[in-house]
Amino acid sequence: MRLRIVDDYEALSALAAQLVADLVRVKPEATIVAPTGETPQGFYAALARLHSQGAFDASRLRVFQLDEYVGVAPNDPRSFSSWIQRTLLDPLGVDDTRAVRLRGDAADLVAACRDYDEALRAAGGNDIVVLGLGRDGHLGFNEPPADATAPTRVVQLSAETRATLARYWERQDTVPSQALTCGMTNILAARNKLLLVSGEHKREILRRVMTGPVTPETPGAYLRESAGVTVIADVAAWPWPHPPSVAETTIPPHWRA
Ligand code: GLP
Repeated sequence: MRLRIVDDYEALSALAAQLVADLVRVKPEATIVAPTGETPQGFYAALARLHSQGAFDASRLRVFQLDEYVGVAPNDPRSFSSWIQRTLLDPLGVDDTRAVRLRGDAADLVAACRDYDEALRAAGGNDIVVLGLGRDGHLGFNEPPADATAPTRVVQLSAETRATLARYWERQDTVPSQALTCGMTNILAARNKLLLVSGEHKREILRRVMTGPVTPETPGAYLRESAGVTVIADVAAWPWPHPPSVAETTIPPHWRA
């Protein structure tokens, strides 16, 4: 696991965009699994800036959405599908035929998950998954308990997660109670995993992810046992005195539980 502890949200967003742009320059046909949430918004803006400066070619990218609400159509502005459209696909000019949606409005949700996994396999696997961190340690919508083998599936959203998402809906009771999520298996199989964590409110869960027990109760902690992981956190989210150089490092043994 690589750690990059940076000064603030802006630096986090710029670094994440730089890493993804570098990867796409080397592999223009890369597959990227893309998240929603507040955390990655600065990253998407920074990536769009790099793209408009000609830093990389996005025309051959394949974009998979990480998760989606059940019962919400892709053209609903609150859907994660349209969120990804606005923040990533449109700014980078990625053609619709190169985007793979998780269809939360599908009549057969099990088939929708199967189609998604099949498309990921057909694309040659996942080159990079960008992740935010839920306050309960979820990745995508892999709500606890979720172990490393959890497949792409329908999940029940916890009351805590629904409360956090209420700001995007009229009222808390209109937040969908179920979602589809890219499974832990696919997330952990990605060649590169980029976890973005920003803000003081993420400090406790980041501590658990970095040093707590690796159990289904903290899905994010499985990243510690996985290869190709980079965590970018700003100092507000980082639970320890940050390394003096604020440089790239690996997690010191004494931070482990
Ligand atoms: C939602 C999304 C996650 C995201 C998490 C944290 O639950 N399904 O993919 O990582 O929120 O969001 P935020 O970045 O807004 O804190």
